[in-house]
Amino acid sequence: MAKLIINENKKLGKINEEIYGHFSEHLGRCIYEGLYVGENSEIPNVNGMRTDVVEALKDMKIPVLRWPGGCFADEYHWKDGIGPKEDRKKMINTHWGGVLEDNSFGTHEFMELCQQLGCKSYINGNVGSGTVQEMSEWIEYMTFDGVSPMADLRRKNGREKPWKVDYFGVGNENWGCGGNMTPEYYGNLYRRYQTYIRDYAGDGSITKICCGPNSDDYHWTEKVMETAFDHAPEHLHGFMDGLSLHYYTVPGAWEHKGSATQFDEKDWFCTLSKAYHIEELVTKHGAIMDKYDPDKTIGLMVDEWGCWFDVEPGTNPGFLYQQNTMRDALVACLTLNIFNKHCDRVKMANIAQLVNVLQSVILTEGAKMLLTPTYYVFRMFKYHQNAQLLESYMETTEIGTDEYQVPDISESVSMDAEGNIHITLGNLSPSADKNIEIQFSDRKVSNVSATILKGDMTAFNTFDQPENVKEKGFTAYSVTDQGSIKVELPSCCVLHLEIKA
Ligand code: AHR
Repeated sequence: MAKLIINENKKLGKINEEIYGHFSEHLGRCIYEGLYVGENSEIPNVNGMRTDVVEALKDMKIPVLRWPGGCFADEYHWKDGIGPKEDRKKMINTHWGGVLEDNSFGTHEFMELCQQLGCKSYINGNVGSGTVQEMSEWIEYMTFDGVSPMADLRRKNGREKPWKVDYFGVGNENWGCGGNMTPEYYGNLYRRYQTYIRDYAGDGSITKICCGPNSDDYHWTEKVMETAFDHAPEHLHGFMDGLSLHYYTVPGAWEHKGSATQFDEKDWFCTLSKAYHIEELVTKHGAIMDKYDPDKTIGLMVDEWGCWFDVEPGTNPGFLYQQNTMRDALVACLTLNIFNKHCDRVKMANIAQLVNVLQSVILTEGAKMLLTPTYYVFRMFKYHQNAQLLESYMETTEIGTDEYQVPDISESVSMDAEGNIHITLGNLSPSADKNIEIQFSDRKVSNVSATILKGDMTAFNTFDQPENVKEKGFTAYSVTDQGSIKVELPSCCVLHLEIKA
């Protein structure tokens, strides 16, 4: 029997709730239809935001939402999205499907959405095609309480009080779609643009995020950090509070990424082993950051991650619409467990994307909505939000093919503010069950409860069968006289165990 050993007396740091963050871009049916249907829609809504989706996201405890992109961010001009809707500029979304963007969802609507969700706001500014003045005026528009041209314009558009901007990104993927820059060039632009993200609220509450690397581009991290550090060695905090990292799990080649639903065991292990690569990325980028920021005041913000497969057959290739199976659930499980274990450096993460795009937690079709396996993982893991990571060690076995191997079990453990312990486990084997004994340093366990997400590796939910895969109660465990827990962990599952204080 494999052991999971937990030292509940050793707290390793706070798991920021933002690790469970999400991302919504003007891409495909994410914003329009997925989140926003307009005030006059027959789909039930509050101020245009669809009620079914908002309720599901609140239940999942969404902590922070990033907007408006992605690549869209560096082409977005925020003034196009304010004022009377009929007067807003119409444009073509050149990046994503060449469809009409009528700007009916803009700053006011995004802030309304965050307010309905009860989550923090993460706005991504435009460096690629926008000016410093434009970015600085956006901050003034959103956050200044006094008399000024932009604050007055906000009032004229119906919003008296400023909003709270929690996170602000200075460009997106500026090594690629955000301007094809070198790290030295972007690093200097970052120094300049961030200067004008004024702290109008006077409490330093806007967390500034610098554009970080793509995947294993360590040169980008080194050079951007160096450029910022040269300028502000003594006071990096407040100058740069976060560095982003983007990493997508793509099982195939870029042109043929692989189907989201039609795959075999080889594809399963290929995908999971590529997802595991995030651990190396977080460790190595973190080590570079350590050189400049040994106290870890700058968060590594993995603000785009998730599975990227071929689009569903018959859908617009520019919309990035894909289904979501138990494979996505296990990718989410192992990734979130890794982020928890690196919570000293990973301060935020935003899976891409919230609805109808890439590894979504929700899919919609007109008035219908379904929750994906990934949704349930986020809901089962929500107890880790703002909890203390506990020291833990799992005895694992490598499984897979000759080419792709992964540890069979993924885990992380935390203690919440009430002293309850939360264990999240994933069995990465598509076919082998595993017996696990969970041992604690001192705690004698009595009150335990558990839920499970279980299905065949290709199982997914459809609009006709939306409850094929869902979180259920789990009872295949027993508490021993010594106070440990024996669990019969089924193959291909995600489990949440709660041990009451
Ligand atoms: O999430 C889709 C795209 O992937 C984003 O717009 C971009 O930032 C990344 O390349």
